Amino acid sequence: MKCKRCRRAGAAVELPSHHAAFCPDCFFVFFRRQVTEGIRKLRLLAPEDRVLVCVSGGKDSLVLWDVLIDEGYETEGLYIDLGIDGYSDRSKEKVVAYASSRGKTPIVVELAKEGIPIPEAARCVRMQECSICGTVKRYFFNRVAAEGKFTVVATGHNLDDETARLLGNLLHWQRGHLARQHPLLPGEEGGLVRKVKPLWRVSEVETAAYGFLKGIDYVNEECPMSEDATSLVYKEALSRIEDRMPGTRIVFYQGFLDPSNPLRKGPEAAAADAARGAEDDAGEGVGAPQACAACGAPTYTETCSFCRLKERVRNARSLRAARGSR
Ligand code: AMP
Ligand code: FES
Repeated sequence: MKCKRCRRAGAAVELPSHHAAFCPDCFFVFFRRQVTEGIRKLRLLAPEDRVLVCVSGGKDSLVLWDVLIDEGYETEGLYIDLGIDGYSDRSKEKVVAYASSRGKTPIVVELAKEGIPIPEAARCVRMQECSICGTVKRYFFNRVAAEGKFTVVATGHNLDDETARLLGNLLHWQRGHLARQHPLLPGEEGGLVRKVKPLWRVSEVETAAYGFLKGIDYVNEECPMSEDATSLVYKEALSRIEDRMPGTRIVFYQGFLDPSNPLRKGPEAAAADAARGAEDDAGEGVGAPQACAACGAPTYTETCSFCRLKERVRNARSLRAARGSR
């Protein structure tokens, strides 16, 4: 099959949802256009932004970084080393290797050094690794961005991630979550930095194809602690629908983002909710965020959810040590 854009080279990527098939060069043009169109439509980024790209070592975030660098944005990459045996080192290697191929050095936060490596912290507080991992990652995304004077934090969530989350929120009628689900969460006074998801228009298959054809080396394995089986079920269901009816995912998500959709607040109106969500998913605060009494991070409670978690881990460790010495 020939590329439907240049009509010369052989097609390497077939995209039924766009009734298209592209050779590698034309696919790069198409993909970058999808991302820049997604940024332009929702005004996610401005040319003068300093972007902190959160890179996990997986394909989506490395591809995001690649596109933003090529589009001329001022970027730095942030990798959070979760302290997961083997997996975290392998992921960090991919991030460091990619960064150095672009003449950069990533910012690395090591949770072991911060006293809160995910596996041990989860054992201490008897919680699922992934639920504390979300709180800890959000905390450092914002803290590193605020301290480094970045104007925006970007993550690699793609169309499959966003539609799976939307389906889950709809099936359980999570009205609060629906109201604040958006690729743009504006910043707030008090140190909450704007957060964006510039890959919201591109699917996982498209991102994987871009990463592969560009020769980006990414970590292929899933996090061994990942228990998020429900989001995989939603992804599978949407993939089956997409296979039968190509283009359904983007129609589903764009319809949801339509400003006239009553289930959703506009990004500005959702900002306060989102800010509370960033600090604490179950946040109940009202008004502007205050400084956390322990670390100074923006929060709607006296101490932020990260400091409360750290305190619980500290207490559990002391208890164990006391029991051990008896
Ligand atoms: P996940 O929640 O694992 O699906 O990841 C969603 C996005 O969060 C990724 O595309 C990255 O942008 C970011 N992210 C996840 N894990 C890390 C990490 N360890 N360090 C930095 N960013 C991360
Ligand atoms: Fe959160 Fe694995 S524990 S990504």
